[in-house]
Amino acid sequence: MNDLFNLKGKVAIVTGAGGLLGKQHCEAIASAGGTPILLDLYLKPAQAAAEMLKEKYGVPARAYEADITRRESLESIRASVLKEFGRIDILINNAANNPKVEAKGDVPWSRLENFPMEQWHADIAVGLTGAFLCSQIFGVVMAEKRSGVILNIASDLAVIAPDQRLYRKDGVTADKQPVKPVTYSVVKTGLVGLTRYLATYWAEAGVRVNAISPGGVEQNQPQEFLDRISQLIPLGRMAKPDEYRGVVLFLVSDASTYLTGQNIIIDGGRSCW
Ligand SMILES: NC(=O)c1ccc[n+]([C@@H]2O[C@H](COP(=O)([O-])OP(=O)(O)OC[C@H]3O[C@@H](n4cnc5c(N)ncnc54)[C@H](O)[C@@H]3O)[C@@H](O)[C@H]2O)c1
Repeated sequence: MNDLFNLKGKVAIVTGAGGLLGKQHCEAIASAGGTPILLDLYLKPAQAAAEMLKEKYGVPARAYEADITRRESLESIRASVLKEFGRIDILINNAANNPKVEAKGDVPWSRLENFPMEQWHADIAVGLTGAFLCSQIFGVVMAEKRSGVILNIASDLAVIAPDQRLYRKDGVTADKQPVKPVTYSVVKTGLVGLTRYLATYWAEAGVRVNAISPGGVEQNQPQEFLDRISQLIPLGRMAKPDEYRGVVLFLVSDASTYLTGQNIIIDGGRSCW
């Protein structure tokens, strides 16, 4: 059974790899012997993660500064990775803008009526266009060699609407209450559509494409928020950062060779309630 999960010799591009979950995906890959290539807008955290992976797992991890909304940036990374490793086997589209729900000063900018067009374009550019561009640029290499895996990181908000009561603030009028931005739902739902499209488009080329829809991860949110959201989750808590490693490894390895075009929801049961 261990062979099914073995990624020895496989090269995996992970976008947004310097962030909270990107590092975890890379750790899942490295722990199975794969080589993670960490892409992030900010080089420092990606580089620090690559160093940790090299030391801990003995894999030749690499970090690149990359803006996934820019084709040239991705094309030069593709050339560099192919020159050094000669192959690309896995792509995890993980990068996203995660706009905070809080109001800026007294302006509830996240509310639909006020939502700035620049923010709309910026969020779609990273979460959706970036995933499309990476799939195009790195996916082509996999389709040409007739094997590969793409994993899109969506969210539980790809399958349910945000419950805006979670973000409610006392003493603030209804028209000023901060909300989860509309772009988050749109980007994440769009990623599931991209998953189905690519899965069928490249099925005969041997490229499998799936998505995961993770629930929220606990990371120092106010206790009031934690209490509210825990009430909505059958398992009674948010996820720990390392709780998606298993499903990521399953989906990018030969343990899931008959699985494509699917969105796996891992949300502590939230969406079934
Ligand atoms: N953390 C959660 O609770 C949670 C829950 C469900 C889904 N997700 C999804 O998981 C993914 C990772 O989330 P996270 O919590 O690690 O977020 P994060 O903000 O910690 O990491 C996102 C990373 O993406 C990078 N990035 C942003 N724009 C980029 C660009 N143009 N080019 C390259 N890199 C760019 C950022 O620099 C950052 O390092 C996101 O898609 C997020 O929506 C997160």
